[in-house]
Amino acid sequence: MFNLILFGPPGSGKGTQSEKFIARYGLKHLSTGDLLRFEISRQTPLGREAQNFMDKGQLVPDEVVIGMISSALDANPHSKGFLFDGFPRTSAQAEALDQLLEIKKAPITVMIALEVSEEELIKRLLKRGKTSGRSDDTNDAVIRARIIEYHTKTAVVADHYQKFNKVVMVKGEGTVDEIFERLCAAIDAKM
Ligand code: AP5
Repeated sequence: MFNLILFGPPGSGKGTQSEKFIARYGLKHLSTGDLLRFEISRQTPLGREAQNFMDKGQLVPDEVVIGMISSALDANPHSKGFLFDGFPRTSAQAEALDQLLEIKKAPITVMIALEVSEEELIKRLLKRGKTSGRSDDTNDAVIRARIIEYHTKTAVVADHYQKFNKVVMVKGEGTVDEIFERLCAAIDAKM
């Protein structure tokens, strides 16, 4: 089983590159952001709770997202591997994911971390906010809050996997295709 974490700050291109990855490698894409937005679109109690945090640019509580990922793993017992996008985002989430994958005897193979300047992140997200309908992209202050959450709570997740020598840093600026080729080269070296 090949389990990949695509890591990076908001707007670094995780979702964009995930779509290309799943087409090439046949992995099951698990994006906590997409799962949460699905709950919001159905106005479930979980979705309404999550929206309060997302609209402010804050992380949703760990127990909510860990529960969602646990259910998604259970729902895909025959997958040849998973691509985690936007998860784990805290140390507690990383520990929970390691435990869930230990049960499957299929640990994380590699974490690919996209590196993009803050200026470029803000530019991309504000541009998407003009058309996406994503409430967390339209407001400069909320975008900055998301980036602060990344630095204070999420960046440490890379340190966790670095201890096991599983992190590969990749420059996330350039065209989408150029970045994809860089990512594929990093992954193929680990396969
Ligand atoms: P989530 O949906 O995960 O959003 P995010 O991390 O803020 O990431 P984005 O989707 O904004 O960016 P991305 O890196 O995927 O880049 P993308 O490819 O989209 O999370 C949203 C919220 O949900 C969080 O703030 C939090 O509240 C909650 N949440 C989610 N997971 C959670 C968790 N595990 N724990 C707690 N809370 C959680 O690209 C961005 C834009 O840039 C696009 O318009 C794209 O077209 C463009 N772009 C991409 N690549 C390029 C390029 N090379 N050149 C130019 N433009 C590009």
